[in-house]
Amino acid sequence: MKPSVFVTRAIPEAGLARVREVCDVDLWPGEMPPPYEELVAHTRGKDGLLCLLTDRIDAALMDAGLPTLKVISQMAVGYDNIQAAEAHKRGIALGNTPGVLTEATADLAFALLLASARRIVEGVDYIRQGQWVTWHPTTLLGGDLSGATLGIIGLGRIGQAVVRRASGFNMRIIAHSPRANPADAATQGVELLSMDDLLRRADYISLHVPLNASTRHLIGARELSLMKDGATLINTTRGPVVDQAALVAALQTGRIRAALDVTDPEPLPADHPLMSLPNAIVVPHIGSASRWARDQMALMAAENLIAGVTGQPLPTAVRP
Ligand code: DGY
Repeated sequence: MKPSVFVTRAIPEAGLARVREVCDVDLWPGEMPPPYEELVAHTRGKDGLLCLLTDRIDAALMDAGLPTLKVISQMAVGYDNIQAAEAHKRGIALGNTPGVLTEATADLAFALLLASARRIVEGVDYIRQGQWVTWHPTTLLGGDLSGATLGIIGLGRIGQAVVRRASGFNMRIIAHSPRANPADAATQGVELLSMDDLLRRADYISLHVPLNASTRHLIGARELSLMKDGATLINTTRGPVVDQAALVAALQTGRIRAALDVTDPEPLPADHPLMSLPNAIVVPHIGSASRWARDQMALMAAENLIAGVTGQPLPTAVRP
């Protein structure tokens, strides 16, 4: 008999086909995530669970899955939606999909940086609203990248991939990353600084820390007040890393700019102030949304799931 698994959404076919080779698949058919009660009901009696960042995976759900549930495989690198310590306590293996979305996410962070600097969204709106009547020497002036300072908060895989892009644009690069090695950073042309110094010096600030108890609201009113006039905050990690109410207040003064792939909550209501501020760009959590990255994430999640239900070590396990 094949192991049975619950897959909480139609993941890219490459991954789904691989899971089906080995497992009996209960696939949630909806476009929307399963409501929590359905998540619990479908996890009960299964050997494995393949989930997404929109699914709340807590201790009660794990208990519903026991004693059969052996593995939780998340199709994402971030896993703040999962009570990882509770999974470890219960001996349930936990996997995620690091590495394969690094370049795609760095591309999006850089796309947001460029879009904010050169006011791309405002330019598109300007045309759509019929305001393009002539070429004018001071229409939609933006910031320069060459010679500007980029501050990276969190110099992990994705942060370093953003550094590689910024080097090609002749930017000065500074970073705050308590565990980074200053010598290694220097070889990448990166100067390590305290958070406050970074906030005071950077023209563009890009966040690359995972969401956890120590990074929730890492950027609040105080940090925003340290940013230079005209500086841009770019967030492609998780919305709650930024105190969003404080960000809205800072943006409403017109002093800073923001370009966000992630918000708190997601999705953001269409009438939220962030959606209409001219100095803010919001896109719908598409950092890893390249075809290749999503196929690889699905395959990686499939391999973690299969390893877990067949009693093998997970290729990319989240360690306790
Ligand atoms: C992740 O993997 O954590 C991203 O946010 C979604 O791709």
